[in-house]
Amino acid sequence: MGRRYEKALVTGGAGFIGSHIAGRLKALGMEVAVIDDLSMGSLENLPSCVEFHHGSILDQALMKKALAGVDIVFHNAAKVSIRNSFDDIYGDTETNVLGTVNVLREAGKAKIKKFIFASSMAVYGDRARLPVAEDGILEPISPYGAGKLAAEAYVRQLARYYGFESVVLRYFNTYGPGQTLTPYVGVITIFINSLLQGRPPMVFGSGAQVRDFVYVGDVAEANILAMKSSVNGMAVNVGTGKGTSVNDIASLLISRLGPGLEPVRAPLPLGEPKDSVADITRARNLLGFDPRTRVEHAISEVIESVKANFQAGLAGA
Ligand SMILES: NC(=O)c1ccc[n+]([C@@H]2O[C@H](COP(=O)([O-])OP(=O)(O)OC[C@H]3O[C@@H](n4cnc5c(N)ncnc54)[C@H](O)[C@@H]3O)[C@@H](O)[C@H]2O)c1
Repeated sequence: MGRRYEKALVTGGAGFIGSHIAGRLKALGMEVAVIDDLSMGSLENLPSCVEFHHGSILDQALMKKALAGVDIVFHNAAKVSIRNSFDDIYGDTETNVLGTVNVLREAGKAKIKKFIFASSMAVYGDRARLPVAEDGILEPISPYGAGKLAAEAYVRQLARYYGFESVVLRYFNTYGPGQTLTPYVGVITIFINSLLQGRPPMVFGSGAQVRDFVYVGDVAEANILAMKSSVNGMAVNVGTGKGTSVNDIASLLISRLGPGLEPVRAPLPLGEPKDSVADITRARNLLGFDPRTRVEHAISEVIESVKANFQAGLAGA
């Protein structure tokens, strides 16, 4: 049976994944606070009746305020771009490493009980055998991946020091409604957005590279399962265990939104692993995680969500 927590803080809760987690927590009847600097997220993503703190996780006084009465933290705020992490190494590290340390320190002082950290498949790099298990080779190939790996170490260490439980969730390529549109994160959202403008999707490399596309509702569910479980001090992959090539995603979306178009090609950017698929045995065994959503089935919902944002953007232009 689930352990009981009364009040959660979701950092980055106005963003894509964090807002889905906040929605699930509200649906469970919990009190929810969110801290977000709105650098990427939006207030429209927030479920109703959450306590919102506008500002940075680097702000010690604001973190202290946001943590009042909180017994569990879901730490999702981050700079989320492999490519940006090369262009702005300091900014990436400041938010993703020092920001995490600040959240951990204030969470420890606030005497929370549990900390769930949004890490990434980027901690593995390119040398791990696929599907990659949690004990696979940890050799990140980007500052973003290096920062997430360092932050994981701080989570484990400071959780022991302050005496709270921790779980590190390594999300794979997450997609779904409400994804923040940027040129660099979320290939499905980016492809749909291009096609809605009548432009073919841009495929990096040969397009044969596979990714483990996991639905945002399933990622939110993994967070809820981690909250309810007694798992402590461990990293757990959050994917589907199945690889889908970028070419297959492009074909699926072209058939729906731009029949006859051909993808344009560009070299694989620095820091992107060639292939990436999760071994989710640990998530299945320890959390009871059972990701059922398939890209083919969820794609209509995602297209509608990107369309709505696209039309809102046009209306506001
Ligand atoms: N989307 C993916 O495929 C994916 C994969 C692996 C890991 N992750 C991780 O999941 C988490 C959520 O990612 P997402 O896809 O929802 O991205 P997102 O950009 O939609 O959400 C991140 C949120 O953090 C906020 N934020 C950024 N810097 C902040 C700061 N200094 N203080 C307060 N808020 C700040 C942004 O405004 C945004 O709302 C991140 O930690 C990311 O690294 C995402």
